[in-house]
This record gives sequence, structure tokens and C-alpha cells, in this order.
Amino acid sequence: MKDTIPQAKGKLGVLVVGINGAVATTFIAGLLAIRKGYAQPFGSLTQMGTIRLGKRSEMKSPKIKDFVPLADSNDIVIGGWDIFDQHLYDAALESKVLEPKDLDPIKGELQRLHPMPAVFDNYYVKRLNGTYVKKGATKMELAEQLRADIRDFKDKTGVDRIVMVWCGSTEIFMGESEVHKTIEKFENGLQDNDVNITPSMIYAYASLMEGVPYANGAPNLTTDIPALTWLAKEKKVAIAGKDFKTGQTLIKTVIAPMLKARLLGLEGWFSTNILGNRDGEVLDDPYSFKTKEESKLSVLEHILQPDLYPDLYKNFYHKVRINYYPPRGDSKEGWDNIDIFGWLGYKMQMKVDFLCRDSILAAPIVLDLVLFLDLAQRVGMVGIQEWLSFYFKSPMHAPEVYPEHDLFIQQTKLKNTLRHIMGEELITHLGLEYYED
Ligand SMILES: NC(=O)c1ccc[n+]([C@@H]2O[C@H](COP(=O)([O-])OP(=O)(O)OC[C@H]3O[C@@H](n4cnc5c(N)ncnc54)[C@H](O)[C@@H]3O)[C@@H](O)[C@H]2O)c1
Repeated sequence: MKDTIPQAKGKLGVLVVGINGAVATTFIAGLLAIRKGYAQPFGSLTQMGTIRLGKRSEMKSPKIKDFVPLADSNDIVIGGWDIFDQHLYDAALESKVLEPKDLDPIKGELQRLHPMPAVFDNYYVKRLNGTYVKKGATKMELAEQLRADIRDFKDKTGVDRIVMVWCGSTEIFMGESEVHKTIEKFENGLQDNDVNITPSMIYAYASLMEGVPYANGAPNLTTDIPALTWLAKEKKVAIAGKDFKTGQTLIKTVIAPMLKARLLGLEGWFSTNILGNRDGEVLDDPYSFKTKEESKLSVLEHILQPDLYPDLYKNFYHKVRINYYPPRGDSKEGWDNIDIFGWLGYKMQMKVDFLCRDSILAAPIVLDLVLFLDLAQRVGMVGIQEWLSFYFKSPMHAPEVYPEHDLFIQQTKLKNTLRHIMGEELITHLGLEYYED
């Protein structure tokens, strides 16, 4: 594949849905600060990660950004939508993630960034009331307005390529229904204002129709429906999702594979969170929480494979709670109590208390996803990008396979995909040195 990859020439547009939110403003302010040399891109695989090439004895581990032709983060141009008309400096201050001392040196740039009016309906996010919202008689009309926004953004900024990322609020739980099954039914549903088509799906539809790759940072179904995965392939566009894997689930997808690797049984896993940001407030609504709960719960079943290991994992009890607790702001606390058993059934416990910062963990994921999706698009990798499962709690996957949740399998898949793209040998960790010649 190596010789055929178009290089990342020109500017890369990044359109962020929910641009005034905590994750989005932390990503954007961070990007601007890093560009000016005020900070380092900690947490970002594309900026700091390395990749081993060849045998261990060759000692060849270039930085990922020197190995694959990623867009330069200096070439990113930001735009986006929100339901509140506020420039990004005020929005970032309000999010209370980054301190004024870190925002003030980039105040001018942040003040110049204004959202475009959003496609929003309070039916789908009950705790928010948007004031800066597009009007249209049908959902199709709203999609057309978003498509016009994308084209205007491209004309005004002169960007060569665009990636769209959903950093908007979590929508209410929505299962797959008839209107999601084919693109014909979906487009009729847009004309008929079908209630099962959410705002995030309207953005995704507009993105795909404009040939723009789309990443979904929330657990909403969005592109994870047959109509839109089909459209992504048809329009030859890369998509990835769902739900950024940041705090508690990141830890869970490291500990659970360890339990399975050592055949330690699980009796119960109780996870609770307190957080006080707007995301926490939205998730305090039971309908939005249900979407998040499904995303967080599915992880253990897939990693532990109770059908293969019934004696160890058949009946474990798994509970996930999220509690809105304003004093904490974005500084979430995630507790896990894990009841396990080992040799002869003797019981043990693990306790994890992760005092994390949600948006600090999510921001580098946004940057990596943007750069990798842009790469995938240039390479001609279309549809669901399973190699980006590394970044998601509920990785999208082909219908015939189960999702891969184990963080280190995900990491291997990601790095092997990069090796494959560049025509390098894949690393299998197979040790042939034990055999006689
Ligand atoms: N921070 C994390 O670690 C993390 C991890 C996984 C997933 N997520 C998800 O990422 C999303 C963003 O999280 P956050 O903490 O920034 O939340 P936030 O509430 O601070 O930001 C969400 C933003 O989206 C805007 N918005 C809502 N609906 C919109 C629409 N239809 N169009 C345009 N804008 C819209 C809101 O006004 C708000 O500015 C949430 O869905 C959250 O569940 C976050």
C-alpha cells in the first residue's frame, strides 16, 4: 500500500459537533497551546507514540507521526456547531476544565471561534434547552442546512479535507428500528420527520453525503445503523465510534483481560462514578443514562466470554452507576469494587479509585481520531474502522464478529494496521528461536 498513499497536503478541517462542550474546548484549547509550545501533547498516540518495526534486535522504533503520513497538527482548522451562541474562550472558561492561566495566552484565537447554529431537539437530550438552533420543516431540510455549512466552511477556510467528530451530549437511548434498516427508509424518514432519527444521525448523514469521515464520541447509535454504515461504504467514507474510552472503562478493559488471562473468576463488579460537569447533568436524566449504561455494561461480557468459561464468569454481577455531583465539576471519581476468586475458590477483592479528569483524558483521543480518520480516508479505507476500537467503549464492528474490547489487543490491531498500510511486516510476537535449524 505504501506507494499509493496520498500525502497530507494542505489544511485539514475539523468540524466538531458540541464545540462549546468540555471535551471539545479542552481539545481545541490544548491544540492551540501545544502549537505555541506552551504544553506537550501528553496522552496522544499520534503525537508521542512510537511503533516497533522489524525484529527486536533491529532496535527500530520511530515515532508514529514520522512513520505514517499523518496531517500535521499545525495544519488543523477548527469549526463546529453548538446549541449555545458563545465564543470558545467563554465556553472553555465555563467548562471549568482548563484554568484561566492556561486559556489566557490563547484567548484571541478562542474568541475568534464561534459555533454555527445546531440541529437540536430537546426531546433527545432532556436536560438541555438549546437557544441557537436551526429551523426546518423536515429533518431532510436540516440535513441540507448542515451540508451547506460543511461546504461553506470548506470555501471560507480553503481546507483540503474535513473530518467531523461528535463531542455533543449523549442522546436518549434509541434501539435500532425499521427506519434505520436501509438508506431508502432512512431518507424517507428524514422527509417524514421520523422520531427515530436523532439529531446526531442528521449530522452523520450530512457528513457522509459530503464525503466527510465521522467519529462518534458518545454512545448514541448514530452511524451504527445499517442505513448509515451502508452509506459510508457507498460514499467511500471512513467512520468510527462509539463513546470515547476514557476513565473507568479504560481501567476495566485493562483489568478484565488480566483476570481472564490468569483464569481468575469474577463474582461481581460494582462501578460507580461521581461527576459534576454538564455531561454529568445530562447523564442524570435516566433516558440519556440508559444509552451510557448499555455502552459501559457490554464491555465485561465480551472480554470475559462467559460461554467459554462458565465456571469463572457465568453469573457475575455487574452494576454501573453515574451520579451527578456538582462540586466535582469535570474531575470525576470512578470507584470500582471487584470481587474475584482463585485457586480452590478462595475469595479476593480489588478496589480501584480513579480520580481522573474526564476531558483531559478525552482531548488527546479527539486529536488522534481526527488524524487517523483522515489517514484512513486518504488510504481508501472505507466504512467502519475497527482498528480504531482502541479509542472506544463500544467499538463499532462488522455484524458477523464480536467487538474487541481488550485494550492491548486493540493497540496491537491499531499498530499492525499502521504497519500494513506502510507495507511493513506485521508483528506477531512469535518466537521461532527455540527451534533447531
Ligand atoms: N469526557 C469524557 O471522558 C467522555 C468519555 C466518553 C464519552 N464522552 C461523551 O462525549 C460527549 C461530550 O462530553 P462533554 O463532557 O464535553 O459534555 P458537555 O455537556 O460539556 O458538552 C456537550 C456539548 O454538546 C452540545 N450539544 C448538545 N447537543 C448538540 C447538538 N445536537 N448539536 C450541537 N451541539 C450539541 C452542548 O451544548 C455542549 O456544549 C458526551 O456525549 C459524553 O458522554 C465523554
